[in-house]
Amino acid sequence: MTELKQNIKITKTEKPKYKTVDFSNIPLGRTFTDHMFICDYNNSQWNNPRVQPLETIPTHPAAMALHYGQAIFEGMKATVDANGNAILFRPDKNAERLNFSAERMGMPKFSEDLFVNGLKELVKVESNWIPPQDGSALYLRPFMYANEPFIGMRAATSFKFIIIASPAGPFFSKRIKLYAEKNYIRAADGGTGEAKAAGNYAAAIRPTEIAKAKGYDQVLWLDAHEHKYIQEVGTMNIFFKINGKFITPSLDGSILSGITRMSVIDLLKEKGFEVIERPVTIDEIKKASVRGKLEEAFGTGTAVGIAYIQEIGYGEETIYVSDESPIGLEINNTLNNIKTGKAEDKFGWMLKVN
Ligand SMILES: Cc1ncc(COP(=O)(O)O)c(C=O)c1O
Repeated sequence: MTELKQNIKITKTEKPKYKTVDFSNIPLGRTFTDHMFICDYNNSQWNNPRVQPLETIPTHPAAMALHYGQAIFEGMKATVDANGNAILFRPDKNAERLNFSAERMGMPKFSEDLFVNGLKELVKVESNWIPPQDGSALYLRPFMYANEPFIGMRAATSFKFIIIASPAGPFFSKRIKLYAEKNYIRAADGGTGEAKAAGNYAAAIRPTEIAKAKGYDQVLWLDAHEHKYIQEVGTMNIFFKINGKFITPSLDGSILSGITRMSVIDLLKEKGFEVIERPVTIDEIKKASVRGKLEEAFGTGTAVGIAYIQEIGYGEETIYVSDESPIGLEINNTLNNIKTGKAEDKFGWMLKVN
C-alpha cells in the first residue's frame, strides 16, 4: 500500500450552512454538509489529504471513471453517544472493504489509517451536522474514482479519494415485499459482486424499477447459473429463521460482505441462536414457508439497519414469510442502542471521533 506522509490539512468554510437546515425534515440523500475530505493519487502516490469546503470538481470529459467505470464506494454512519460525542461504527471494516474493492477493480489501495483519520477529521469539523433525533445519523460516503483523461482500456494512473457527508433523518423500517428475479442477475462467479463497485449498482437499477412497477419494494437476487440460490436483497444481505435457527447465504464471491451482516451474526450468536452460513435455495425457503417452518426473514445494511421481509414474489407464486419479526426487531434495537451508546459496546465496535 502506498503510504502517505503528509498530515491532513483542514480549511473551514466561512459560511457554514448547517444553521439553515431543518434537521426535523431532511430529504434523504439530498442535503450535503459544508466540507469534504479529499486526497489525490498521481505518480503512484496518494498526496495532499485535506478537509476543505465542499465544492464541485471539474471533470475532464475523458475521465476514465466515466467510460470504464473504475469507481468504488463505501457507506457508513456517524452517530452521537449518550454524552453527545460523535462515534463511528466499525470504520476499520469499511477501510478494509474499500481496499478489497480497489484491488478487484485495479485501483490503488488507500491507507486504512488515513481512511479512518480522514473520517474522524471530517466528522469533527461537521459535528453540528449530526442530527440529534433518535434514529438519525450523519451518513458518510467515502469513494474513489479514476479521473485520468484517457481513452483506452487499462487501469488509470490518477484517482481521487473523497468522503462526503449527508445528514439522514430517523429511519423507520417497514415490512418489505421482495421480487425474486429470474431473468436479470446482480453478480456471477468471477464477477464483481463481492466488490462495492459503482457498476454493480448501475446494473441493478433497471431490475429494481421492474420489481417496483410490479408492486414490490426490492429485488431478491438469485445466482447467475441456475436462478436457484439466494444471494442478497436489494442492497442488503439476507437472513432467514427456519425451525429456530438462522441461515444466511455464505459469502461465495458474488455477495458483498456486509458490515451489518457480520455484526448481526455476532449479535444473534450472543443471544444464543445458531447461525449457519451456507448456500440457500429459493425452493427450500418456499418449502419452509409451506410447512410453517419459516419464522422470519430480514435484510441487513447500513442504510436501514434491518428491513423485515413480509413476502417474496417468485414467478406466479407468493412465498409468505411473516407479519412479525420479533428477533429482527430485537437485533435492530440492540444495534441502534450500541450505535448511540445506550447499550454496552461489548464487541468494541464503536470508535470515538474525539
Ligand atoms: C449490495 C450490498 N449488499 C449488502 C450491503 C450491506 O452492507 P453493509 O452492512 O456494510 O452496509 C450493501 C450496502 O452497503 C450493499 O450495497
